[in-house]
This record gives sequence, structure tokens and C-alpha cells, in this order.
Amino acid sequence: MEFDKVIRERKATRLFSDKKLEKDKLDKILEAGRIAPTAKNIQPFKIYIIESKEGLKKLDKVTPCRYKAPIVLLICGEPEKSYNKNGHPTYEMDSSIVTTHMMLEATNLGVDNIWIEMFDEEKIIKEFDIPSNLKPVCLLPLGYKSKICPPSPFHKIRKNINDLVEYK
Ligand SMILES: Cc1cc2nc3c(=O)[nH]c(=O)nc-3n(C[C@H](O)[C@H](O)[C@H](O)COP(=O)(O)O)c2cc1C
Repeated sequence: MEFDKVIRERKATRLFSDKKLEKDKLDKILEAGRIAPTAKNIQPFKIYIIESKEGLKKLDKVTPCRYKAPIVLLICGEPEKSYNKNGHPTYEMDSSIVTTHMMLEATNLGVDNIWIEMFDEEKIIKEFDIPSNLKPVCLLPLGYKSKICPPSPFHKIRKNINDLVEYK
């Protein structure tokens, strides 16, 4: 897909069908995350792939936002290892860039997706035995939208460029 089309076509999917995500597409999406830039190239992140029946059931206990996706990536950052900018570790920035790379590659491959921050952090750590050096940053449900998927309500609502950009 043309890059311009990718960034315009990407939208939040809030109801997935039960169609499985093909392994070759998953691998390409993960590869897009692997090659993402991170501060000082430290790569302080880990991606958990949740697709088993048991894993998805656990996930539904910690977020209302799986939207029936058959596979969900949990992106975690490593605060202690990440670059530290004046007392602010960059692991969230790094993990967000990784997730953005994966989200756009998913769209490029025709795979629907949505970025999720609404989950119970304590519970997700407990349910998935996340090691103490890692902090969950976001979830990325992946799959194919259901035929009755509602349109993303805010997709077309964007501020005017002049409200967002200022030349100095
Ligand atoms: C950092 C971030 C966190 C988000 N968290 C959630 C979430 O927890 N639940 C949800 O339904 N959508 C979530 N979204 C999706 C946004 O609501 C959505 O991207 C926004 O409304 C714009 O719509 P669009 O993606 O279709 O253009 C999140 C998006 C971002 C970038």
C-alpha cells in the first residue's frame, strides 16, 4: 500500500470477526516493531503475543477493550534500561514508536487493529506473570473487522493544521 494511503486508511477497529491472523502477517508486523527506532538504540521493550483461549480469557478480565480480536500484542517497556532524559525514562516513547510501527504495518497488510491503553496494569502483570523489570505500556489487538463493526466515531475529527502547527 502507498504510505500516504496507510496513514489515511488506519483507523480504530472496535469489533473483530473470529478470522485468525495469518502467521506470515503476524511475523511481518512483529518485524516492523523489531526495527523501530528507540532512544540510544537501547531497544528496552518486550512484546507478548496473546492468542491462546486461556490468554484471551485472562485478557478479558483486565480490559473491556479486546473487542473480540483473535490475537493481541502486549507491549511492555523496561524503565530501568531505557534512556533517561532528565529523570524521565523514555521507555514509553520507545514502546509507543514500536507499537506505531506495528500498527501501520498491520494496516499496510490489510490487518485491522486498535491501540489500547485502557487496562488494569496491576491485574495484567499478575495474570501474565510479567517480570518486575517490565512495565505494560499498551495493547494492540489485531485481526479482521466484523461485518457489523461500528465506524470509528472520531476518525474523521481532526484539528485544523493551523491549530496544530506554528512556525517560529
Ligand atoms: C494512546 C492511545 C490510547 C488509546 N486507547 C484506547 C482504549 O483504551 N480504548 C479504545 O477503545 N480506543 C483507544 N484508542 C483509540 C482512539 O480512541 C482512536 O485512535 C481515536 O479516537 C481516533 O480514531 P481513529 O484511530 O479511528 O482515527 C487509543 C488510541 C491511542 C493513540
